[in-house]
Amino acid sequence: MSSNRTPIAWTAICVVLIVGFLYFFYTPPATDIGAVQPIPFSHRLHSGVKAIQCEFCHPYVGRATYPGIPPVEKCLYCHTYIIAKHPQILKEHAYFDTRTPTPWRKVFYVPEHVFFNHQRHIKKAVACAECHGAVETMDRLKGQKFMMGFCIGCHRERGATLDCWLACHN
Ligand code: HEC
Ligand code: HEC
Ligand code: HEC
Ligand code: HEC
Repeated sequence: MSSNRTPIAWTAICVVLIVGFLYFFYTPPATDIGAVQPIPFSHRLHSGVKAIQCEFCHPYVGRATYPGIPPVEKCLYCHTYIIAKHPQILKEHAYFDTRTPTPWRKVFYVPEHVFFNHQRHIKKAVACAECHGAVETMDRLKGQKFMMGFCIGCHRERGATLDCWLACHN
């Protein structure tokens, strides 16, 4: 490299270091907390403190591809009696009365071309927490996009299929 290019190289290195520094120290903490939901539903309170089973609200998890998010009727099953006048519960009543599905924001997903089926995993007793973390300790769920390395890592450990191009991609 000719000597008059050296300052350019140093400038470039400094820019990379500064950007790296800012990225690590100033990434907004919100990305670590999880998406704001239309109703501040807390898994920590419901599954942790009140010990309501996951399957009570996500009943299709062992039987179908998609576990589903509970419809408002499920919330009102309890909340018609429990803290019925709480402003957030009144919001649920408004959704119910207008037949509007609660606009929950999806937080876990796989890339579009990947097919993921819960049933097979639940049948083999893979715990929810192995993929979703300790949900019962979280107020707001932190989302995650599951990339292939995540699937393959566990499949290798458990001796499940590694033939992902056939089994998981559509
Ligand atoms: C099996 C019963 C049950 C079901 C089903 C249930 N909840 Fe609750 N929920 C509770 C109990 C118990 C509390 C605590 C009430 C208290 O503070 O006295 C609570 C508290 C809450 C609170 C108040 C939290 C706070 O910060 O004070 C909100 C909001 C809430 N639930 C939303 C929901 C939504 C939304 C659903 C449906 C997806 C739902 N709940 C389903 C039992 C239930
Ligand atoms: C009282 C009902 C209730 C119970 C019990 C419950 N959930 Fe949920 N779950 C919900 C609601 C409502 C949402 C949508 C709002 C949200 O993401 O917080 C949800 C969302 C989720 C999602 C995120 C889906 C997505 O991609 O957005 C996962 C994963 C999940 N629940 C796992 C669990 C697990 C694991 C348990 C047991 C430890 C559990 N849930 C117990 C009501 C419940
Ligand atoms: C082997 C990993 C794995 C296990 C075990 C697992 N999940 Fe999931 N879960 C996923 C993936 C991946 C997605 C995103 C799937 C998608 O977008 O199609 C997901 C999505 C969800 C959703 C959102 C579904 C929707 O319709 O948006 C809920 C709710 C959920 N899981 C609940 C559970 C519960 C409850 C358990 C335990 C009984 C569980 N999961 C066990 C990997 C797993
Ligand atoms: C924590 C461990 C774990 C993770 C993570 C995991 N799997 Fe699995 N998976 C298993 C186990 C164990 C089996 C074996 C089931 C059996 O033997 O029937 C399995 C089976 C499968 C099968 C069925 C294979 C067959 O031969 O029928 C598919 C498809 C699959 N997984 C896709 C995925 C995808 C896609 C992901 C990532 C989004 C994923 N898995 C993440 C543990 C895991």
